[in-house]
Amino acid sequence: MSTFDLFADTPDPQGKASTLSIVEKIQNLRALLHHHGHCYYTLDSPEIPDTEYDKLFRQLQDLEAQHPELQSADSPTQRIGGRVLDTFASVRHRIPMLSIRTETDTESSGAQAFDARVRRELGLDELAPPVAYVAELKFDGLAMSLRYEQGALVNAATRGDGESGEDVTANIRTIGQIPLRLKQGPSLAIPAVLEVRGEVFMRRDDFDALNERQRARIAAGAKSEKTFVNPRNAAAGAVRQLDSGIAAQRPLSFFAYGLGDVTPATDGGPTFSTHYEMLQAFKVWGFPVAEQIQCVQGAQGLVTYHQHIAQTRDRLSFDIDGVVYKVNSLALQTQLGFVTREPRWAVAHKFPAQEELTTVLGIDVQVGRTGKLTPVAKLSPVFVGGVTVTNATLHNEDEARRKDVRVGDTVIVRRAGDVIPEVVSVLLDKRVGDAPPFCMPHSCPVCGSLAVREEGEADYRCTGGLFCSAQRKQAILHFAQRRAVEVEGLGEKLVDQLVDSNIVKTLPDLYRLGFAGLAQLDRMAEKSAQNIVAALEASKPTTLPRFLFGLGIRHVGEATAKELARHFGSLDRVMDASEDALLQVNDVGPTVAHSLLTFFSQPHNREVVEQLRACGLHWPEGEPAFQVPQPLAGQTFVLTGSLPTLSRDQAKELLEAQGAKVAGSVSKKTNYIVAGADAGSKLDKARELGIAILDEEGLRNLLAKLQADQATSSTNESKP
Ligand code: IVH
Repeated sequence: MSTFDLFADTPDPQGKASTLSIVEKIQNLRALLHHHGHCYYTLDSPEIPDTEYDKLFRQLQDLEAQHPELQSADSPTQRIGGRVLDTFASVRHRIPMLSIRTETDTESSGAQAFDARVRRELGLDELAPPVAYVAELKFDGLAMSLRYEQGALVNAATRGDGESGEDVTANIRTIGQIPLRLKQGPSLAIPAVLEVRGEVFMRRDDFDALNERQRARIAAGAKSEKTFVNPRNAAAGAVRQLDSGIAAQRPLSFFAYGLGDVTPATDGGPTFSTHYEMLQAFKVWGFPVAEQIQCVQGAQGLVTYHQHIAQTRDRLSFDIDGVVYKVNSLALQTQLGFVTREPRWAVAHKFPAQEELTTVLGIDVQVGRTGKLTPVAKLSPVFVGGVTVTNATLHNEDEARRKDVRVGDTVIVRRAGDVIPEVVSVLLDKRVGDAPPFCMPHSCPVCGSLAVREEGEADYRCTGGLFCSAQRKQAILHFAQRRAVEVEGLGEKLVDQLVDSNIVKTLPDLYRLGFAGLAQLDRMAEKSAQNIVAALEASKPTTLPRFLFGLGIRHVGEATAKELARHFGSLDRVMDASEDALLQVNDVGPTVAHSLLTFFSQPHNREVVEQLRACGLHWPEGEPAFQVPQPLAGQTFVLTGSLPTLSRDQAKELLEAQGAKVAGSVSKKTNYIVAGADAGSKLDKARELGIAILDEEGLRNLLAKLQADQATSSTNESKP
């Protein structure tokens, strides 16, 4: 829809030469703003710049101010809030808002138990085909029922006790993603009455930004302000704000997942036969529906979904606390019915909580590989994110001060996926005793060298270098890790022993230990010593990227090491590269270049490299890639879904070898999308943007063609 479709006449509020009536102008502006609001908030794909939207918005505001009799509750101008209530009115739910049974076990048995119950209730024997389910995310927010009459939002209510909730309409209107008017679809009528149910929540980035703003307000002296403990609490606080002007400043989001009261099909209401069909209709009417929704078959489908979401939940931009399984067929849902207050056709399968409360037993300062000092809270053991946690990082001096964590405090600990557990915040009202605030030491707690915090840096660093045994230990562990040179069995305990007894001072010392060197250690069994010797031997044939990464040069992670190896082809060329040459490498900027130059300008670092080579470490070297043609340089690819034979990493490697960039998300800059089975929203977006779409075969053909082109051009070049 372009501005012109709806606004053929001049939108000038004074309407000098206008042929449209004020009523029509207002209607047109509202329709236009509804459309662009939907594109911006729900589809995440704006069609006009923000300034243009603001201009239209102000025109409508002006017209409505001049004609208050034309004001309407579903006007986009009503989103900015402003009403202040004494209390919320109570709303009786015409269809109760039920809760669902929860399974909390972490294994697949929750899904299997649910499927078994459903099959038993439906009288399906083993030979009957699998039941079709819809698997969804369980959003960690608060349930909301949105009532539309004749297509307009008339009421929004919290769940309350399930029978009646609170009328929070004024606050809910401020949520840009919630349509104030239902959108008309091509073959889907708008029912006279429609109650859409779903979850109001706060995205993590919105939550962080909100807390940032709250901290600034508190620092500026606003005594009544506070920071929020987690996105759920922040969302609940915003929804229950009596001043909708304040609610409007708290960025909330919404996902639709269910139906309440609705005009029956016999009276012209919708005729869905499955839950999935209903969710698609919600999208047409303008509601956000989570893209992770999946139709699956039987218990196995549920188990696979649960595992997939458990592994990927940390990449979501919002918190979930589990997944929800629902029988897809609405006829079967009716047949299954309810037990007490829970439907038999749905179950929530929760994940272990990622945040828990515990107490701080002490605060230690740890020294990392690059000398970085990290304050770490020692905790009373707590089960969080599926493991028992006893340490949580406080990151650095500023963070530790900001959170003001003290010994004895009750704190919220978060462990999300494989990320290091962290202290999120202190429950100040639970503070007892008078422990002093934490202070960062100005000398290294391990070697006593001076610790300094350079200007513009967040971290204190020990200046002891490899004199500091903590740094030496970490450097060895880094080198020996699986992603670097990989010395199996060389773990923390053994490295502690080797460094503390002064047997190993540098990396090459490891390779000179031999069986005798290891066997002399306390508690070292003969067999273990043999295993370590064998592992050291097995680590010698390696690759250039692994070796470069293993050296532990600051700012040189795995990806940079790969780029360096690909670009230069040999270690000597990397070691001797000038700043200009380094800056030519993909993703190498001045900081990385400087770090590499500093590292290789130190004779003792070059000496370590030479000695490692002398000890037998070796890797294949090749031609520098900057001389190899890069036909896909400047082209951006996005990979989505699973390809029939290539893994993501393999496809990425093939493309990168030709100079292509492989990005994580689709944008106007994307040149190609390579899509496999179960490709989701990225593929939809690529289609919308008209981006070239390849399957695995298409990708292989493209690569083969490039190879053929190179072959002909190099034969041409070699001709006299
Ligand atoms: S369906 C009759 N689907 O979990 C079924 N609930 O007790 C009604 N929730 O507080 C709920 N994500 O707010 C459903 N995809 C989802 C959900 C979901 C989160 C919440 C809901 C309620 C609780 C279920």
